[in-house]
Order: sequence, then C-alpha cells, then structure tokens
Amino acid sequence: MKRYLITGASRGIGRAIAEKLAAKDVELLLHGRDTVALAQTRKAVESQCAKVALLIHDLANSAGVSDLIAEVGNEPIHLLVNNAGVAVVAAKRGFPNWSAYCMSKFALEGFSQCVREELRDRKIRVINIYPAATDTEIWDQIQGKWPRQKMISPEEVASAVAYAMSRAADVALENITLSSLTGNL
Ligand SMILES: NC(=O)c1ccc[n+]([C@@H]2O[C@H](COP(=O)([O-])OP(=O)(O)OC[C@H]3O[C@@H](n4cnc5c(N)ncnc54)[C@H](OP(=O)(O)O)[C@@H]3O)[C@@H](O)[C@H]2O)c1
Repeated sequence: MKRYLITGASRGIGRAIAEKLAAKDVELLLHGRDTVALAQTRKAVESQCAKVALLIHDLANSAGVSDLIAEVGNEPIHLLVNNAGVAVVAAKRGFPNWSAYCMSKFALEGFSQCVREELRDRKIRVINIYPAATDTEIWDQIQGKWPRQKMISPEEVASAVAYAMSRAADVALENITLSSLTGNL
C-alpha cells in the first residue's frame, strides 16, 4: 500500500491531484482546514482508493505543521504534495505590489534545490511544478477581474503530477513549468 499526503486537498489544484492519484493500492491522506470541502474531496475519491484519511490543520502556524506531522505518524509516506497556499501567484515573475508573495515563492525554488541534493542519496525525488494561472477559487480572493478563459485547468496541473510520478525511479525530474497557449495574464 502506498501512502500519499496532499496538503490543500480541500479544493482547487489539491483536489484535482487527489482525484488523479486515487488508486486501489493507495491510501490518500487529505489535508485542509475546511472540513466541509475536504469531505467533498473524500466523497470524490473514496470509491477509487484503498483508504482515505482527513487531516485538519492550519499550516499558517508552526503548531499546525507539527500537529500534521504527528498525525501522519511514523509509517512511511511515498509522496508529499506540498500544495496548500494562498493567492496571489508568482514564483518566477515579479509583479508590482506582489513583493512579499513573490519573495516567498521564489525562495521555495532555492529551498527545493537544497532539499533535492540533501535527499538524493536516499532516493527521494523533489519535483517543483510551476503552473500558469489556474482556474480555481484562489482567484476569488484577488481583487480585480481575471480572465478565467485564459487559465489552465487544475486537472492539467494534476496530470503534470501524475506524469512526474510515472517516470522511472532513477530519473529525477526536477521542474515542470506549465503555461497557457493563450498567453500570460
Ligand atoms: N491557481 C493558480 O493560478 C495557481 C498558480 C500557481 C500556483 N498556485 C499554487 O497552487 C496551490 C494551490 O492553489 P489553488 O489554486 O488550488 O488554491 P485554492 O483553490 O484556494 O486552494 C488552496 C488550498 O490550500 C489550503 N490552505 C490555504 N491556506 C492554508 C493554511 N493556512 N493551512 C492549511 N491549508 C491551507 C486550502 O485549504 P482550506 O480551503 O481547507 O482552508 C485549500 O485546500 C497554492 O500554493 C497556490 O499558490 C496556484
């Protein structure tokens, strides 16, 4: 049995990843804060996977992170999808007035490169997926009118995760960048 932990699985990209990775030999550990939305994700996947557990923790504080780790327990996990996050979005481009957000997202690339090297000997792969603007509820929280029709779907991001997972175990796919053919926002 494989155990997959997906943070931010209650909606959007995290939910689409859960739906994509659900399989009979997989236990899905679905994390979020919104219990109602998380239950909807469970409903969508439970008939397709071996087991589902819901983990409710606020990752904006260190106690929430520690509690999540404690609840996952000592049994090994085979995949961590580190997806939970808030708007606005930009890890490779700077946007006016988004300095705090861009700084934190750019920093994750440096963090990932270091962790990738630290874990290489243990055969643990660290993969960053950079989606273009993706049509999820995250955009409801950002002031302004956003052209949803130019955005990619969360299912496309989930497909990139599945592709990365399907590579041979000795191949370290490092980054996947998805853009929309209709152009950037
Ligand atoms: N949509 C885009 O255009 C886009 C593009 C590039 C990258 N991203 C990144 O992709 C990730 C998912 O985005 P999305 O579009 O799917 O967003 P979303 O629909 O708003 O979903 C965000 C998820 O993150 C969880 N979350 C947020 N803050 C949390 C916290 N403090 N503690 C625990 N969980 C928290 C939410 O949980 P609850 O709802 O249960 O609170 C929800 O499940 C984010 O990291 C985002 O920055 C998004």
